[in-house]
Amino acid sequence: MCGIIGYCGRRPAVPLVIEGLSRLEYRGYDSSGIAYLQARRLELVRAEGKLAMLENKLAERSSSLATIGIGHTRWATHGLPVERNAHPHRSQNDALAIVHNGIIENYQELKDVLSSEGYVFSSDTDTEVLANLISFELDSLLVERFGQGAEFSKKVEEYIEKSNQNSSIFIEIMEEAFSNALKKAHGAYAVVLLSPMIPQNIFAARLAAPLLLGIGVGEFFVASDVPAFLPYTKDVVFLEDKEIAILSDSSYEVKSLETGHVVKKEIHHIPWDIQGAAKDGHKHFMLKEIMEQPKVLRDCLAGRVQDGKIVLPELDGIAVPTRIRILACGTSYNAGLWSQHYLESLAQIPVTVEIASEFRYRKPLLSTGELILVISQSGETADTLGALRLCKERGHTVLGLCNVLGSSLAREADATLYTQAGPEISVASTKAMLSQMVLLLLLSSYWGQRKNLYDDNAVKTRETILQGLISLPAVLDDLLPALRKKANELARKYAFAHSFFYLGRGLAYALALEGALKLKELSYIHAEAYASGEMKHGPIALIEPDFPTFVVAFDDEHFPKVRSGILEVQSRQGKVIALVQENCHVECEDMWYLPETSLPEFLALPAMQLFSYEMADYLGKDVDQPRNLAKSVTVE
Ligand code: M6R
Repeated sequence: MCGIIGYCGRRPAVPLVIEGLSRLEYRGYDSSGIAYLQARRLELVRAEGKLAMLENKLAERSSSLATIGIGHTRWATHGLPVERNAHPHRSQNDALAIVHNGIIENYQELKDVLSSEGYVFSSDTDTEVLANLISFELDSLLVERFGQGAEFSKKVEEYIEKSNQNSSIFIEIMEEAFSNALKKAHGAYAVVLLSPMIPQNIFAARLAAPLLLGIGVGEFFVASDVPAFLPYTKDVVFLEDKEIAILSDSSYEVKSLETGHVVKKEIHHIPWDIQGAAKDGHKHFMLKEIMEQPKVLRDCLAGRVQDGKIVLPELDGIAVPTRIRILACGTSYNAGLWSQHYLESLAQIPVTVEIASEFRYRKPLLSTGELILVISQSGETADTLGALRLCKERGHTVLGLCNVLGSSLAREADATLYTQAGPEISVASTKAMLSQMVLLLLLSSYWGQRKNLYDDNAVKTRETILQGLISLPAVLDDLLPALRKKANELARKYAFAHSFFYLGRGLAYALALEGALKLKELSYIHAEAYASGEMKHGPIALIEPDFPTFVVAFDDEHFPKVRSGILEVQSRQGKVIALVQENCHVECEDMWYLPETSLPEFLALPAMQLFSYEMADYLGKDVDQPRNLAKSVTVE
């Protein structure tokens, strides 16, 4: 979703902020902006559209003296994606500028109060309301300290002069104003503030929206996500809800918003390197992330299988559950749905899988002792976090499956399994799903192992699964080039289509859902997935020669039924692409064979990802940043 970066140091801030924003572009955005202090003047530049538009505007200005600045990429929530709504927003009196992620829910009430105090607004955003609220609080405090007529707006020059001489008083006043305003704002925020009154400092705070500090030497960063400052430091402090950070070029301090007390924070070292967040010679991040899946498999398995046993020390303190509820959104939901089969067969645990946004907005009935398994690549998806909190409030143990170290999910869950897929930059999730599937499969086998279950009821034995997993990286390494070639051919052949069906049964159903999601989000071709058995209950009415069907099926007990479904589509002149294993005998317009392995899902997934990738690229779409989408959906 929106991206934030702030820099406080000794180097030119503007190029660093722009570079940080470009590293956050993957989150999705429709406008961008930057504020910096040049000779103590608050300068603000914003532009609609891509970052290049902002850079063009900045090229007309001189900003070389600025060593402090904040920047933002906006994904519209309040108001159109136009320049006046882009961040940063300054307060009416130019006392400060802020960037903000999240939503101030009571912004209209606050706006009404401020309007009655004479504030006039030039945007439709809740952020401008927050900027003015802070400035209102600031003015009140200045009057209190220095008497009537002491408002910042009336005495800008004088205050800048005074704050130069006695900066600590002004830092104190700004801190109080910032805290007072945030206490009045309801909703979610990651907010960063810059003001000519405190020219050496940046203020930051968070509530239910991610914000972290980058700890450098003689420089500090604040950002919504690690890649923003990864080339400069890997040392990170994660802010918690209701914490305020005050940065300068020589120190940082974190305080509790409620008590004002200093909070001692741990510094985490991020194991990613900048290479992991670069395209590495590939045309798009998405392609790079698909092609690196063999490595992801290796990283994800590393240390987790020893002497034929699964080792997950993160779960030592968690009892084997009697029921599991999986909660997730989008691709992570699809991974959860796929894992239901394995959890039920290998671990013999009943599993319910739900979309987090549906779950949290009803009054769900949970069984006593039901374990909540929350899956999220980013660990910041608002609905998934909302569902997690609801379950925790009811006293349930929450296990998180997450890719981003130190994310909200990882910090709020009782235990977290990290998928270790490395940074996923492309908005469309690919390698993260594969890594989630690996972990979910390990988890299913691990609980079976802890229950001392023999594999009588399992479709595949634990041993077959472990051997299959261990051999997968090499199999996939060999297969990926051929998959890409075939995906490219098929994409060219089917680029005419306006709609696609995706069909799957059993283990393949969740993959069909994922295939359809990938195709629509990347190529904007309408794609709908059905459990193959459902076709004849309605959807088949749509089949005609120009409406292709993508079938994914494996060499298992479901295949005879899937074949019948294919015949039904074909007898209505529907064209079928069949992504199947070599032993699946069927004749279709386009056969796409996968080698025989015990875990064909791990080959089918990259094949479908590549099909969508090639389709989107062939159709000239914005592969890494599809329209209207954001990498992590931090709004509800
Ligand atoms: O970070 P999360 O896994 O919680 O994200 C969930 C979805 O927003 C995400 O999977 C989304 O559906 C992707 N665009 C899919 O490619």
